[in-house]
Amino acid sequence: MENEIESLKSSSQKEIAETKSLKDLEALKLAYFGAKGKVALLTKRLGTLSLAEKADFGKKVNELKNYINQTLNTKYQTLNTSTAKQEWLDVTAPGIKPEIGHLHLVTQAIEEITRIFERIGFTRVRYPEIDWEWYAFESLNMPKNHPARDDFETFFIDAPTSLQYGKMVLSPHTSSGQVREMERLNHKPPIRMINIAKCYRPNWDVSHIPMFHQFEGLVVDEGINITHLKGVMDYFAKNFFGPKRETRLRPFHFQFTEPSFEVDINCGVCLGKGKLPDGSTCRLCKEGWMELGGSGMVHPNVLKAGKIDSNKYTGFAFGWGVERTFMMKSGTKLDDIRLLYSNDIRFLEQF
Ligand code: PHE
Repeated sequence: MENEIESLKSSSQKEIAETKSLKDLEALKLAYFGAKGKVALLTKRLGTLSLAEKADFGKKVNELKNYINQTLNTKYQTLNTSTAKQEWLDVTAPGIKPEIGHLHLVTQAIEEITRIFERIGFTRVRYPEIDWEWYAFESLNMPKNHPARDDFETFFIDAPTSLQYGKMVLSPHTSSGQVREMERLNHKPPIRMINIAKCYRPNWDVSHIPMFHQFEGLVVDEGINITHLKGVMDYFAKNFFGPKRETRLRPFHFQFTEPSFEVDINCGVCLGKGKLPDGSTCRLCKEGWMELGGSGMVHPNVLKAGKIDSNKYTGFAFGWGVERTFMMKSGTKLDDIRLLYSNDIRFLEQF
C-alpha cells in the first residue's frame, strides 16, 4: 500500500506537469478528488485495515491529498497568468455603437421655452392637470353659464362637486394657474410666472389633439402696461424663432384680459410681406403673419379673485400652445399635429 501511495504521488506530479490548459487541470482534479476518483478509492481501503494500520495509513493518505492539492494549485496559478497574458485587445477594431436616445420634441421645446423666459426673470411653475371649475373659469371672470365658456370645450370629471369650487375638470388651459400663482405668492406682487403644463379639450384632427401643452406667462406689478407685453412677445419671437422675427398684437376678446389680443408673428419665409421677391404670394402664410396665441392685460376681476388690489397693480398674461408654437418654428414643416404623439420612432428620430 505504501507503494501505491508513492506511485500515485509520482503519477499525479507527472500528469499535472503535463497539463496545458485550465480545462484539463479541472478534469485532472476530478480524476483524483471526485467521488470515484483515485484518492477516494484509496480511502475506501481504510475499512479493511486494523486499528494500528488505519492510523498510519490515514496519515499517509492525508499527506498525499495535501501534496496533490498543492501541486494542482501551483499549476493553476501558472496556467491562469499565462492565459491572461494571451488575451489581446484589438483597439483598432470598430466598436459597437450604442443607440442614443433623445428627449421628445415637445420636451425639448418646453426646455427651450423655459430657458428663454428664465433669462428675463420668469419662474417656471406647474399647476394641477385636474382642477376645480373655479380656477379654470370663475376666478378668470367667467361666471357659471357664461357663453364664453363655450370657447373652452371641457372634460368634466365624475367626482363630487365642491360648494366652493364647483366641479372637477381636466384643465382646459394653463390660465387655471393664474390665480393659483397669486395664492402661492400670498397675493403679493411682483409676479413673473411661466406655467407650462398639459391641457385637455375633446378635439381630434390635424391641428388638435385632446391632450396638448400650453405655456402661460403672467406678470403682475406696479405700472405694468401693454408695452411690457409687446416687449416680452418680441423678445420671445426673436429668441425662439430667430432675430428677424417680430410680433403684432391684434384686438381680440378673452373674458380674463382687457384689452385682449391675438399675438401674430411675421412669417419666417416672407418676413411679413405676404409676397416673395418675385411678386408671387407667399405659400406658407399667404398674408405675411401667422397666429401664435392669446394675450392681454389682466382683467381687474381676476386680480380681485387672487386678492390683489387692482388699483395698485396691473399685469399682462399670455397663453400659447407648445405644439403649435413648435410646429411654426422655421424648418419644422408638420402638417399634422398628431404625428408628435404617434410614437413613430422613424419620425421622432429626425429631430
Ligand atoms: N387661456 C387662453 C386659451 O387657452 C389663452 C390666453 C391666456 C389668453 C392668457 C389671454 C391670456 O385660449
